[in-house]
Amino acid sequence: MEEKSLFILKNIKVKIKNRIILDNISINLKKNNITGVIGPSGSGKSTLLKVLSFLLTPYSGEITYKGIALKDYNPQKYRKTVSYVQQRPYLFPKTVRDNLLYGPKLWGIKYNEEELYALLDLVNLDPVFLDREVINLSEGEKQRINIARSLANKPEVLLLDEPTSALDLLSTEIIENLILKLKKQDLKIIVVTHNLEQTKRISDEVLVLNAGRILDHISIDEFLHSRSDEEIRLYFKKQSSNGGNQND
Ligand SMILES: Nc1ncnc2c1ncn2[C@@H]1O[C@H](COP(=O)(O)OP(=O)(O)O)[C@@H](O)[C@H]1O
Ligand SMILES: [Mg+2]
Repeated sequence: MEEKSLFILKNIKVKIKNRIILDNISINLKKNNITGVIGPSGSGKSTLLKVLSFLLTPYSGEITYKGIALKDYNPQKYRKTVSYVQQRPYLFPKTVRDNLLYGPKLWGIKYNEEELYALLDLVNLDPVFLDREVINLSEGEKQRINIARSLANKPEVLLLDEPTSALDLLSTEIIENLILKLKKQDLKIIVVTHNLEQTKRISDEVLVLNAGRILDHISIDEFLHSRSDEEIRLYFKKQSSNGGNQND
């Protein structure tokens, strides 16, 4: 059975200060799978996530979510549904509870104590964390709260930008397990990663970007079988040829 497309992008071009950052991006992204976005620094991975989450409007091209053009959605509601989790946790210097409930309060989503515990449990954190100040948390815990904060708004799509790049092995494993758990709960997940092993562990398909263009969009199995280890390593190492800053 053919899965329906969730996102359809046609000839998306993004220009920033007259430089082409994404060029002629045409892709269909389906529901219920995990898309791993890979490519060298500066290749446009974060920019692509920003386009998908309607934080950035393309210079030209068309993009639809569930068959409706992004510009026809209410931007705030859309960004709640298609939630972009930035690479570096951006939390309010308040308690975990305050951070988790900020979005739901805005949207009139009610949470009782049990539901908050369940949310924390999803990211492997004990209920005692609810009333801790986020400034006292470790990086791994902050990142988990960062993701839980998006999940609190009950999104349909989670866009994760290098969620484990600053984390130790244990926190990385917890987040990878969370991603796999969420997939089972019907979330579409698009995750940018710099880590080949991570891509292998969690992705169903890969999207390879280089210098703002798509090099590959294939299943993880096809990717691993049709490319030599050497070529795959190059995707992760090769520097962008579009003169971009290597500043991610
Ligand atoms: N706001 C911006 N102003 C200027 N250049 C930008 C801006 N955002 C991104 N870029 C440039 O666009 C290119 C792609 O950036 P980005 O999407 O962050 O790449 P990646 O996430 O793959 O490292 C880079 O060359 C980056 O310097
Ligand atoms: Mg980036």
